[in-house]
Amino acid sequence: MTQPAVLITRAIFPHVLEQLSQHFDVESNQEDVIWSREELVRRLQGKAGAFMTGTERVDAELLAKCPGLKLCANMTVGYNNFDLGAMSAAGVLATNAPDVLTETTADFGFALLMATARRITESEHYLRAGKWTRWSYNMFAGAEVHGSTLGIVGMGRIGQAVAKRAALGFGMQVIYHNRSRLDAATEAAVQARYVGKEELLKTADHVMLVLPYSASSHHTIGAAELALMKPTATLINIARGGIVDDAALAEALREGRIAAAGLDVFEGEPSVNPALLTVPNVVLTPHIASSTIGTRKAMAALAVSNLIGFLVHGKPVTPLNPEVLSPRGA
Ligand code: DGY
Repeated sequence: MTQPAVLITRAIFPHVLEQLSQHFDVESNQEDVIWSREELVRRLQGKAGAFMTGTERVDAELLAKCPGLKLCANMTVGYNNFDLGAMSAAGVLATNAPDVLTETTADFGFALLMATARRITESEHYLRAGKWTRWSYNMFAGAEVHGSTLGIVGMGRIGQAVAKRAALGFGMQVIYHNRSRLDAATEAAVQARYVGKEELLKTADHVMLVLPYSASSHHTIGAAELALMKPTATLINIARGGIVDDAALAEALREGRIAAAGLDVFEGEPSVNPALLTVPNVVLTPHIASSTIGTRKAMAALAVSNLIGFLVHGKPVTPLNPEVLSPRGA
């Protein structure tokens, strides 16, 4: 019996290839070439499944050209590369990789907050440039983290993991804003208080963005929102590019309208708005919040489980559009 065919769109741990090869005819991309959309469509021909990394846009146009496709499995928790409506309409299942990266990503959010508030990369560049000649009472004086107020925008799993670190580890007051308010027991467990977006922006010493990207969260933080923040505040984005208007942020940083920013994600990444590269008070990292070997292996494992679970046993682990599984959708 011929095995279903699966495409792995980017380079991945070799053991993932071995695991998938036990069930599927696998075409991989270990050279990590960034395929054009035409190339992706070409390689998807005859494939029942795709192991994806959250950057390949799957929409009605692509689906119409790939009639054999049954499942697109992201190894990321974010799935803004998927047009879920179009996938459901085409009867194609989408899966993502939630939970396994929550704590690692929250750790990184905190690392970025600390680096930004305490000016770690800025001062390291100064030292490496040989400019450090003496101790000085206000050298790279930053903002207090412990005991300050953290405003979290987006209070899903990662937001809650950040809140726990802030409240329990750093004695911070945590306020949050989210589409829907948490129930009282969860608010108590993460020691966070719900506030409106405007109050959060005006009150927080540090603002951390942890919300998913969609058309409705595009430019959640733009010039108007930055103007509400304290001039001493920091802004941390570990969510998605496009949630912040990067041009407006660069201007606010240059003019000192907020103190500093820490960004792991960018509009149009891997391109970075050149204006951000010219301001000193920003810490920039290349979308690595979930990047520890253990977590990336766990994320890949969940995508593998979804491919085998659905294409071999008919049971995906983390479906995003389960309506596809119903008899009418199948
Ligand atoms: C995710 O899982 O969505 C991350 O942003 C990818 O690293």
